[in-house]
Amino acid sequence: VSSQPLAGQSVLITAGPTREAIDPVRYISNHSSGKMGFALAKAAAEMGAAVTLVAGPVNLATPEGVTRINVESAQNMLDAVMDNVDKKDIFIGCAAVADYRVSDIADCKIKKSAEEMQLALVRNPDILATVASLANRPFVVGFAAETHDVETYARDKLKRKNLNMIAANDVSVAGLGFNADANALRIFWPQGSQDLPATDKLTLARQLLSLIVKEKTK
Ligand code: C5P
Repeated sequence: VSSQPLAGQSVLITAGPTREAIDPVRYISNHSSGKMGFALAKAAAEMGAAVTLVAGPVNLATPEGVTRINVESAQNMLDAVMDNVDKKDIFIGCAAVADYRVSDIADCKIKKSAEEMQLALVRNPDILATVASLANRPFVVGFAAETHDVETYARDKLKRKNLNMIAANDVSVAGLGFNADANALRIFWPQGSQDLPATDKLTLARQLLSLIVKEKTK
């Protein structure tokens, strides 16, 4: 097997959290570190791919040879993905996109007064499902962070979002997944599955990309 199995292929990856503004100084976000997505970008570049990485706000260095686009909100991330998805061979949605954004972002800092206040939220667009619905779509890979019934929820997501492959992790296991350096993944595709036991995220990234190459060329 060639050490550059992705030579000539272009890969688009999303990574990290999104940040949904409340007012000019506050936001809603999550604990995603971006490490898995950055590891995928590094591994894909090493395997010979032209890699574009759409990254939410994270403190990580851009892997060598990778084109990085920084974004903040889910809407920014969707725009960057749609601007760059044309002619991509593989799309991997690894970002922890906020499910909701604030309905009306305040123009000025919200002052404290009342004892209670409510924030109205609206659903964000699903970037992964949007890419999967394109006529000339790339091979589409999603991630699923679950705390229980991992296979059931992952297979449901695979079908519902019309993906080629999904990488699921059990985020209830201490020291794995969110914000950790190690992870364990269970990969599902329509005709099969494979467990990738706990190891560092770069090793997992290489293993997942090898599976993608294998399934994509079938
Ligand atoms: O439905 P759920 O959020 O669990 O799906 C996770 C997968 O969907 C991840 O691959 C994530 O990057 C992607 N996603 C997305 N846009 C959203 C929500 C999730 O691309 N708004």
